[in-house]
Amino acid sequence: MPTALVCGAGGFIGGHLVKRLKREGFWVRGVDLKFPPFAETEADDFVVGDLRDQNFCRQITDRKFDEVYQLAADMGGAGYIFTGEHDADVMHNSATINLNMLDACQKRNVRGMFYSSSACMYPEHNQKDPDNPNCAEDSAYPAAPDSEYGWEKLFSERLYLAYNRNHGMRNRVARYHNIFGPEGTWEGGKEKAPAAVCRKVAQASNHGEVEIWGDGTQTRSFLYIDECLEGTIRLTRSEFEGPVNVGSEEMVTINQLVDLVSDIAGKKVIKKHIPGPLGVRGRNSDNRLIGQKLGWKPSATLRSGLEKTYEWIDRQIRSNTRAAA
Ligand code: NAD
Ligand code: GDD
Repeated sequence: MPTALVCGAGGFIGGHLVKRLKREGFWVRGVDLKFPPFAETEADDFVVGDLRDQNFCRQITDRKFDEVYQLAADMGGAGYIFTGEHDADVMHNSATINLNMLDACQKRNVRGMFYSSSACMYPEHNQKDPDNPNCAEDSAYPAAPDSEYGWEKLFSERLYLAYNRNHGMRNRVARYHNIFGPEGTWEGGKEKAPAAVCRKVAQASNHGEVEIWGDGTQTRSFLYIDECLEGTIRLTRSEFEGPVNVGSEEMVTINQLVDLVSDIAGKKVIKKHIPGPLGVRGRNSDNRLIGQKLGWKPSATLRSGLEKTYEWIDRQIRSNTRAAA
C-alpha cells in the first residue's frame, strides 16, 4: 500500500488532500497543530503537534513515505497577510516549518516533497494593471512581493530547489492562486474573498448591503479545491520540479465575484465599498507552463465552484444560528 505524509492536514487544502489520497488507496499520516475543524479526518494516523519543533519533525518522519506534502503554514487572506500585524509570525513560523521538514525528510532519505508556494511571491510592479497582470513563472525576478508572506514563500521555494541541487531530492514547487471551496476558513479574519463574499451575501437580506474592501475593481482568479488537488498530485508525480502556477485563468473583478455569488443566492445586494486591506491591484494565473509541462490545466468554471461553496457556507451559518437559538 503506498504511503503519504500530509503536513497541514488539519487545514483546508491538507484536509481535502487526505480524502483524495485515501480514495486512491494510500495509507496516510496527517500532521497539524489541530484536527480539521469541519469534518472528521480520514487519515489513518493523525498526529497533533508543532512542526516548528525539529524533534517533532523527526518523529513524524519515522517511517518510509512514498509522497510527502508540505502544506502547513501561517497564512490567511488579505485581512491577515496585508495588515502587517502578523508579519514576524508569518515569516518565522512558516520558514521554520519548511527548514525543519526539509532537514528531517532529507535525513530520512525521503525522495522528494511537494511544497505549496503562492502567487503572492510575484512582484507587485507586474500586478498594478487590473486588466493585464503578469504572473508568468519567469516574471518572478527581480523579486518584489508586496507582503512578507510572499517573501517567505519565495525564500522557501528556493530552499526546496536548493535541496534538489545539493542533496539529490526530487522536490516539487507549485504556486497556488487563491484556492477556495467547502471546508475552507469562512469567518474569523483569515478567510479569503470567495468565502468572505459568500458569507456576507448569505447573511444579507434581499436588497441589503454587502461591505466590500476597496472599489471592487481589483481583479483575481480563484481555483476550486478539486482542481487544486489534481494539479498538486500531477506535479508531485511528474518529472517537472516547477515552480509552476496552479491556478485558474478565469479572472474577475471583486465586484463581478459579488454579482456571481448574489445570483447564486438568488438575492439582489447593494455593494458598499469600504476601506480595507487590498493587496495587489490585479492578479491572474498564467497556465501556459503547466499546460506545456504537465499537459493539464483546470477546466471547472468559477460559478460551479462558487455554487458548492455558497451552499456549504450558507449551511454553516444556518447551523450556527440554530445552535445559538
Ligand atoms: P490553512 O491555514 O487552512 O492550512 C494550513 C495548516 O497549517 C493549518 O491547519 C495550520 O494549523 C497548520 N499549521 C500552521 N502552523 C503549524 C505548525 N507550526 N505545526 C503544524 N501545523 C501548522 O491553509 P490552506 O489554505 O490549506 O493552505 C495550505 C498551503 O497552501 C499553505 O502553505 C498556504 O500558504 C498555501 N497556499 C494556499 C492558498 C489558498 O488560497 N488557500 C494560496 C496560496 C498558497
Ligand atoms: N478576504 C477578503 N474579505 N477580501 C476582500 C473582502 C473581504 O470581505 N472584500 C474585498 N476583498 C478583496 C481584498 O481586498 C483583495 O483585494 C481581494 O478581495 C482578494 O482578497 P483575498 O482573497 O483575501 O486575498 P488575495 O487574493 O489578495 O491573496 C490570497 O491569495 C494568495 C494566492 O493567490 C491569499 O489567500 C494569500 O494567502 C494567497 O497566497
